[in-house]
Parts: sequence; structure tokens; C-alpha cells
Amino acid sequence: MTSTSAVADTADSQTPGWTATSVAAPAHVRHRGLVEWVASIAAHTEPARVVWCDGSDEEYARLCDQMVAAGTLRRLSPVLRPRSFLAWSDPSDVARVEDRTFICSATREAAGPTNHWVDPAEMRATLSGLFRGAMRGRTLYVVPFSMGPLGSPIAHIGIELTDSPYVVVSMRTMTRMGRRVYDILGDAGEYVPCVHTVGAPLAAGQADVPWPCNPTKYIVHYPETREIWSYGSGYGGNALLGKKCFALRIASTMGRQDLEAGGAGWLAEHMLILGVTSPEGRKHHVAAAFPSACGKTNFAMLIPPSGFEGWKVTTIGDDIAWIKPAADGSLRAINPEAGYFGVAPGTNVRTNPNCMASLRENVIFTNVALTDEGDVWWEGMTDTPPAHLIDWQGKDWTPADGKAGRKAAHPNARFTVAATQNPAIDPAWDSVEGVRIDAFIFGGRRSSTVPLVTEARNWVEGVYMAATMGSETTAAAAGQQGVVRRDPFAMLPFCGYNMAEYFSHWLEMGRRLQAQGATLPRIYCVNWFRTDENGRFVWPGFGENMRVLQWIVDRNQGRGQGAEHVFGISPRYTDLHWEGLDFSPERFERITSIDRAAWREEFRLHTELFDMLAQRLPAELLEVKARLEHQLAA
Ligand code: OXD
Ligand code: MN
Repeated sequence: MTSTSAVADTADSQTPGWTATSVAAPAHVRHRGLVEWVASIAAHTEPARVVWCDGSDEEYARLCDQMVAAGTLRRLSPVLRPRSFLAWSDPSDVARVEDRTFICSATREAAGPTNHWVDPAEMRATLSGLFRGAMRGRTLYVVPFSMGPLGSPIAHIGIELTDSPYVVVSMRTMTRMGRRVYDILGDAGEYVPCVHTVGAPLAAGQADVPWPCNPTKYIVHYPETREIWSYGSGYGGNALLGKKCFALRIASTMGRQDLEAGGAGWLAEHMLILGVTSPEGRKHHVAAAFPSACGKTNFAMLIPPSGFEGWKVTTIGDDIAWIKPAADGSLRAINPEAGYFGVAPGTNVRTNPNCMASLRENVIFTNVALTDEGDVWWEGMTDTPPAHLIDWQGKDWTPADGKAGRKAAHPNARFTVAATQNPAIDPAWDSVEGVRIDAFIFGGRRSSTVPLVTEARNWVEGVYMAATMGSETTAAAAGQQGVVRRDPFAMLPFCGYNMAEYFSHWLEMGRRLQAQGATLPRIYCVNWFRTDENGRFVWPGFGENMRVLQWIVDRNQGRGQGAEHVFGISPRYTDLHWEGLDFSPERFERITSIDRAAWREEFRLHTELFDMLAQRLPAELLEVKARLEHQLAA
């Protein structure tokens, strides 16, 4: 770790009107533009010091020690949870803030009706005021990171400037972070500049708090200049800027800009990537998009149930996929991340044994409860809660509090852990060329209407399915519980440009690949969440989702049978493999039946979405809709 202090100087900076400062960078940082940018941000935010992070074990340990001393982290029992820590955030800073997230493209239309837009000049003026002196009394850390395997043609580099050591150690787990990034960057390489402050400057002698943050929050993206600015929050996707901000919002615009500039184009998607290997050793790769709180991590780490001996599921990624066409027309995917920032509540040895095994050591937990033995606990971790806990707000908690409805862990409590700790990690998870995608799956949480699994008849119908996806809101998403929110491609909060143009981008990518003679991956829509008259899930889910996955893989090999209906092709009861599960044809009917009245209402909701996006909506999707409605009425 090399420290320097910021010294005033003048030079060009990316942000007009901001004075630059010369900051003595370590010799391995050869990129003059980068050094000047760091200097200009330091001059404006006025940190007490600038630290160029190297990503070493020693740096990680030192920052964790420092945060333990500051009260930000608690060291957990070295016996029960070796080398692991617990952070409790400020109660006002516990989740992504979608209503404070902005896409500041040159025009409102470019951001589209699903994003919050502010004129970039106006936003720059606002942020300039907020960032001025915002890091006073704190350290500005320079965090170099690669999204994707270092040197992969699919990967990209970012540099995050942050005044939060919690962000530094989290970025080290969540990305390929450290000195080697500068070797790839060279003296003029491209990077996405990301600036983050908790927005809590310290006056001389002022004592710090364990979780500094600011009630005012801004998560801002400038797609044209590919910049990210984040103010006021230290939590998750608001602050770890490689994840949702870069790997989804900025990257989605980069993939489209590439196509518009004459390149092959690419996709940045809110998708897990998994490998499925059959007993004969045949391997397929599937990318699957689900909105937040639909069990994505569980699906990515699925353990095949009884009846599937010899099958193996391996994880490439749990949240985000970057997908680019290869020369042969196949789609190659990487996981741009290197760790999992997953929701802890509900995770246990039954729902996700691989995840629990990943969490044995080297974890940073945030907003879970602390046991008297120095371990962690969250709702759903065990059937019987411990007799006494300290809850996520530092208060005593007993099961009686739980019965009274007070949660020991915040519902959005998280773990941050390296992907390499997953016992089911795919051997190719870190490969520079990525894996070939054979199928796309889209799924939401729907208590009715949407059947267990449907295969689209072609790419355009698949894009329609993904575009019109909906999901019922849960406690983790803002808003009323149980209301269907349209969440196209599970990208509603993450698409960095006009959603209608994003649909066109998918259609155009498909058109071009088909024109090249490529066989496109098939597209599937799934729903694990249909309920019975008592509100109970009919489908057992979790490992049993393997039965659907097997059907998808079989279809890919031209083996799986199914029947065509209004919306596509679905398996009949006899087309799925039932060994090891007692699931009657009657129950199967409950999760696969098509209720025409419910679908008429569903199409009305599709119309609402399409009306909102009408200005730039591709005509093909309206044609598909008309055709499906006609077939439904027939
Ligand atoms: C996440 C999310 O944290 O989708 O991955 O909200
Ligand atoms: Mn996600």
C-alpha cells in the first residue's frame, strides 16, 4: 500500500472546472491520464491522504484490522467462522436505492421511461457541490479492478475511488482487484472511472461513526462518458460500483454502443451462469435471469436431487453474465464478478448446502445477527433460533422478539465471499474465453398464470417472453408486497438505456447471428412459484428444479419431448423425469395449466408495458403479441 498526500497543481481533468492535483502514484501505475484523474478528484474531495491499493492479502488484513478498531467490523469466532467479520450498517443504509439511481444520458429518451433521468449538466453541478470536500478527514483509496478474468477479450477494467475501507475489502472479494490490473491497463488503456464517497467528511478532531453515510444519496451513471458517481451510501450495489452500476448499467450501454459502432455487439445481463453435466459426461451451459429475491443463488448452486445420480451442476456465476459472440457464431459468457454478494436470510443446509459450505470461513457478513459464541445467525438458517442473539442493530434479541415479528437479521442482510469457496465452482469459471451458452432461462415469481416451463418457438418469441416478464414483489423490493411488477429480462433497475432499445438490441443480435448461420440458444420461461388455494407453493423448487433443467438440456440435444400450446412448447407430465419425487399428475396440472381469463388480464398488463415503451418499441414484439392473443382467443 503506497500513501501520498494530495498536493495542489493544475492539469486537464475529465470534469470541467475542477482543479487537478498531482498525486504521487506508485511506479507500476504508468497511466498518466489515470493519475491526473485521481489528482483532480483528490483536489475536489480533499481527502486527508490517497492510498493506491494493491489487492494483497496483507492490505486486506490491515484494512480489516483497522475497521475492527474503528467498530465497523466485528471479528467472528476464529473457531466457528475463521477469518470472518460482521458489519452492521446504519439502519438507514440497508439496500440499493432505486429511486435515487439516475441514468444521466444526453437526452431523456436515451435513458427511456423506466429510468430516472436528470440532465447531465444539471447533475454534474449538483454532484460537484456534494463531492466538494466530501472526503475531508478520510482516506481516498484507489481501487483497480477487472470485471472478468484478467486479460479476457470479454473483460473490462474499472477504477473505483472510494473513501470507504469496507468498499475496498468488499471489492477485493467481488472483483479481480489489485496491482495486476495496471499491467493490463498499460499507459493508455481504457477504464470505467467510478467515484464513491459515503458523504460524511470529518472535521479536525471529529470522532468517526462505525458506518458513516449521508441521508442524501445519489447513484449516478453517465452512459456517454461511461462514468459512475455514487454519493451517500456505503451499502452493496450503491457502493461496490463494479456490480450493478458497471457490470449492468454501464456495460449494457457498452454492448449496444459496440454494435452501433460496427462491432459484433454484446450483452450485459442480470443472469447466473451454470454448467450441467449429464452422467454420460455431456456438458451444457445455461444463463438464467431472475429478478432479485427469486432464488438465483440457489439455482446457480443447485445440487441434483435423488433420481439424478451422475448429474452435476457447477457454478460459473450467480448474478451477472457478460456475453459476446465468438467468431463461430456461438455466444460465450463470463461472470464479470469474482465473488458472491448474496442475501443471507432463508439460506440453510436444506435450501442451499453449497452456499452454506461456501460461508464456512473468509466471509464478510453484513446486517446478520451475532450469537453469544461469536458466530452469525439469520432467519431461516436453523429451524430453532438460538436462545439469545444480538440483532443487526446491536440490540438483545430472543425468540420471543422473533415471535413478536422483530427480525434478528435484516431481510436484506448479506454475505460477501469469494467464488472460489463454492464447492460447486465450475472449472471454467475463470477462463478467459468464457463458456458457450446453450440456453437462456427467464423466470419471475408468479403465484398464478405462468406455467412451470415453456420453450419459445423462436428467438423473437423468446425475446417477447423475456420482455414481458413479471414478478411479484417481496419485502426485499420496494413497494407493496405481492403486486406484479413488470421486470423485463430482470433488468428493470439495471438497464443503462432505453428499455425498448434494449429489446431491439436483443432482436438485432439474434438477427445477425442467424444471418451468419449460427444456431441460437433456445429461450425458456420458468416459474417455480405457483401456489395452491392455501397460498402454499405447489412445486418443491430448490434441487427439484433439476427436473426442469434436465428437460431443457434434453431439448437442446433434440431428445426432450413436449407439446405445443399457445405460448410455446412445454413438457407433458410424462416428459419429465420423476424418479425420487412423489409429484402427482394433478399437482403437475396445477402448475402448468393455462387459464385463459388470467392470460387475457396478463396481456392487458403487457399492453400497459408496451404503451409505456411505445416510442421506440420494436414492431416485431407487437406482432408477436397480436399473434399470441389471436391464438389465445381461438
Ligand atoms: C442483487 C439484486 O443484489 O439483484 O443481486 O438486488
Ligand atoms: Mn442481482
